[in-house]
Amino acid sequence: MPNAALPAFDFLAQRRSHPAKLMTGPFPSRAELEAILTVALRVPDHGKLEPWRLVVLDRAALARLADLAEARAVALGGDAEKIGKGRGQFDKGLLAVAVISSPKSHDKIPVTEQMLSAGALCFAVLLAAEAAGWGANWLSGWPSHDAAFAAQAFGCTGAETVAGIVHIATFAGDMPDRPRPDLARVVTWA
Ligand SMILES: Cc1cc2nc3c(=O)[nH]c(=O)nc-3n(C[C@H](O)[C@H](O)[C@H](O)COP(=O)(O)O)c2cc1C
Repeated sequence: MPNAALPAFDFLAQRRSHPAKLMTGPFPSRAELEAILTVALRVPDHGKLEPWRLVVLDRAALARLADLAEARAVALGGDAEKIGKGRGQFDKGLLAVAVISSPKSHDKIPVTEQMLSAGALCFAVLLAAEAAGWGANWLSGWPSHDAAFAAQAFGCTGAETVAGIVHIATFAGDMPDRPRPDLARVVTWA
């Protein structure tokens, strides 16, 4: 489990996601999750538009979404692999937070900025959960990009889309970190 007692910079230097499919219980209680979401909702948001909303998914909700993903896969003519990939995170998940990008009509703040805020909120939920000592993983998957699934699962309407589904639970084991970006390749000093 990540060390929640580290100073902020050290925590950020060491933090990493943990695969949702390998996480176990326990997972945050409602009060613990509310504390995480309160911190995460300090996310930058140009113009205070609040262009996002959150849907908390408990085990029963995740089970419903697994069945919904399967029904959508069948309706789309998908094969067993598509059904399996669609159900996967919902079958295995214990607690997740769906971040819905919900852009508002505004004459100065473009939708792209509002979607960036939703992406930042996904990362903020991830960071806050990890900082509180939980394992977390930001997932999408094909159902997230399927408008009919998003409408039925999360009530997405109009321009609303799924920015991400952040799973939060316990990761007890340890795995090698993924390779991290080489500054020389991605940073230009102008
Ligand atoms: C928008 C978005 C969607 C993602 N969807 C998935 C996914 O569906 N499945 C997956 O294995 N990883 C997915 N990832 C990758 C993981 O969330 C994560 O970036 C990776 O495990 C390494 O995370 P870390 O840098 O926090 O350790 C996604 C990442 C982003 C930013």
